Amino acid sequence: MERKVTVPDVLKRKGGSNPIVALTAYDFPFGRIVDEAGVDMILVGDSLGMVVQGMETTLPVTMDEMVYHCRMVARARRRALLVGDLPFLSYQVSVHKAVANAGRLIKEGGAEAVKLEGGLAVADTIRAIASVDIPVMGHIGLTPQSVHRMGGHKVQGKRRGERPGQRERLVEDALAVEEAGAFAVVLEGIPLDLAADITGQLTIPTIGIGAGPHCDGQILVLHDVLGLCDQLSPKFAKRYANLWQVAGDAVRAYVREVGNGTFPSEDHSFHSLVSVQREEKAAAEG
Ligand code: KIV
Repeated sequence: MERKVTVPDVLKRKGGSNPIVALTAYDFPFGRIVDEAGVDMILVGDSLGMVVQGMETTLPVTMDEMVYHCRMVARARRRALLVGDLPFLSYQVSVHKAVANAGRLIKEGGAEAVKLEGGLAVADTIRAIASVDIPVMGHIGLTPQSVHRMGGHKVQGKRRGERPGQRERLVEDALAVEEAGAFAVVLEGIPLDLAADITGQLTIPTIGIGAGPHCDGQILVLHDVLGLCDQLSPKFAKRYANLWQVAGDAVRAYVREVGNGTFPSEDHSFHSLVSVQREEKAAAEG
């Protein structure tokens, strides 16, 4: 096995020619597949609300659910850095509650770092969590927990003047997250030139999703990569397989074979000792 990826390893990759490769996972089998494939960082994202639980948004995901999924991936992970996502209202109500919930992802979920959404507004929260030695990854731009404020899952900072100073505010958010002590920051759903600008201004790595090629690393939602959704994936995601189709074909074949009696065959059946002895006797008698 290759050497375990740690938070200092991620920091060292800032500005290098070897981009940080991150992906989400939510359970043991996919955690193991992603880890063995060589991903550097696994995020147990609250996106599980949409791609695993079938909800419209990430907002209903609970702390208990995040701990449960983190623990499954922690059992599977051998090399990658494991980051657990703090769900909606697990860190916004008070700094005290945020530190306690971040601690749950580490102590109960087996995560090595946590992620939370927001910039300047959550800087004190990031500082408090980092001060108890829990590494924090920020997340700015299209922040899915702010879906109602944004009026949908919309690209942020796209047009100058769409909301006065929005691009400048995103730069400020990124700098505030870094200043508060985050070891990396996810840039989601922002134009590639803004992502390049922010990446150039920060000393911590930026991990892009829908933020173009100039970030220090990239992350995608596993179910988009594998084609494991019945809906269209977002424009920025690349589908590397169509597992929805593959899984559907396999189940349809099973339904067909049970229906027409092809399965189970003798090969998939157990034989009692009595019938085995009877066959051996018949063979011996010629
Ligand atoms: O919840 C999630 O999976 C995320 C990634 C998309 C960055 O926040």
